[in-house]
Amino acid sequence: MPDPSILQDANAFSLDRRNFDTLDDKTAQIWRSEFLKCKRTKRFQPTRLVIEILNSCNLDCPMCRVGQHGIDLERRMELQAFRDVLNQCTDVRSVRLNGLGESTLVPDFSSYIDELNRRSIDIELITNGTATDEIYQQILSCGGKLFFSWDAASPDLFEMLRRPASWESCLRALQQACAYKSKVGKGLVGLLFTLQKANVKEFARVVELAVESCVDNVQLNVVKGGSLRWLESDLAEVLKQIELASTTARDGKITVFLPDQINGGEIRGEVQVTSGTHCTVPETEAVIRWNGDVQVCNMFNPYTLGNVFGHGFKHAWESTFAQVFLKNLNTANCHPYCKTCAYMPKAYD
Ligand SMILES: C[S@@+](CC[C@H](N)C(=O)[O-])C[C@H]1O[C@@H](n2cnc3c(N)ncnc32)[C@H](O)[C@@H]1O
Ligand code: SF4
Ligand code: SF4
Repeated sequence: MPDPSILQDANAFSLDRRNFDTLDDKTAQIWRSEFLKCKRTKRFQPTRLVIEILNSCNLDCPMCRVGQHGIDLERRMELQAFRDVLNQCTDVRSVRLNGLGESTLVPDFSSYIDELNRRSIDIELITNGTATDEIYQQILSCGGKLFFSWDAASPDLFEMLRRPASWESCLRALQQACAYKSKVGKGLVGLLFTLQKANVKEFARVVELAVESCVDNVQLNVVKGGSLRWLESDLAEVLKQIELASTTARDGKITVFLPDQINGGEIRGEVQVTSGTHCTVPETEAVIRWNGDVQVCNMFNPYTLGNVFGHGFKHAWESTFAQVFLKNLNTANCHPYCKTCAYMPKAYD
């Protein structure tokens, strides 16, 4: 159990402030009034969890900044707490280790993987590529999926966006993982490209790199936070990159997962439904933050349902806060973070 001092208040009063004070006045009024009318409701348990076992990082990527203060291993979910989460969520078939941080830095990381494997839970990891080969091989040996974040094909730009990582060592780690995957005939390796102003000309060459490295798939994510006004002038380039990347992927027989919209603008071709178009994610998926807070999805929407180490997972999952969020999802009054969301659940099927 984590030290109680790290827990933010997750009682109804503080969640009211945390969740509703961040909405614009009109939406907050609607959500608060619905909150008074909604009741706690029994729900099927989630089948997928995203668990943040560390809220800290060895890199300081400019679009994220989680690592700006260096590594702080205090901001981790201990193994026993991780087991407690899994014990509370008995229907879970798949766990993605992701979060605002780099999970692989947790000192006994391999024990977390053993724990999932022992319970026959499918494993997914999103990583910055700085972990050891042994870590990546352990996940592939369990048939798990590895997603390397890869935002550029030019070494200099890669190192700027993934500071202070080394292109050479990340590339070596990726290639070793791919070689190991083919040797054992298990697991999957994908790339996760986060589109931002600095890398609009990189996507097609990242897909080329994926083909050369025998990666299974590449998905296009879109940066969140800050203005996307730059897209107005760069959209033509983004579309060109998508077209080139699609051809490369087809010829190289790998999959690219492309969003059906970017910032609300329609993308045509072989695209996937994004959660910004229609979202069912919070019906079956929950995020557990390092301190036990239960949130709604892999996109780190900050809306919080409760805390697993407070009143417990079931209490959070079936809470009135969950009902209000689900009631407004896919409507004009949806949470502002959901508008134009680039999440593509299909990329993880
Ligand atoms: C927050 S990281 C955590 C996992 C790991 N540290 C990594 O970088 O792969 C998960 C994914 O979110 C992406 N990401 C970072 N900042 C983002 C932002 N502002 N908007 C959208 N995605 C972002 C990263 O590129 C990465 O692919
Ligand atoms: S490596 Fe991941 S968690 Fe770390 S700063 Fe970069 S995007 Fe954020
Ligand atoms: S941010 Fe909103 S739209 Fe996107 S996956 Fe999460 S709940 Fe769905």
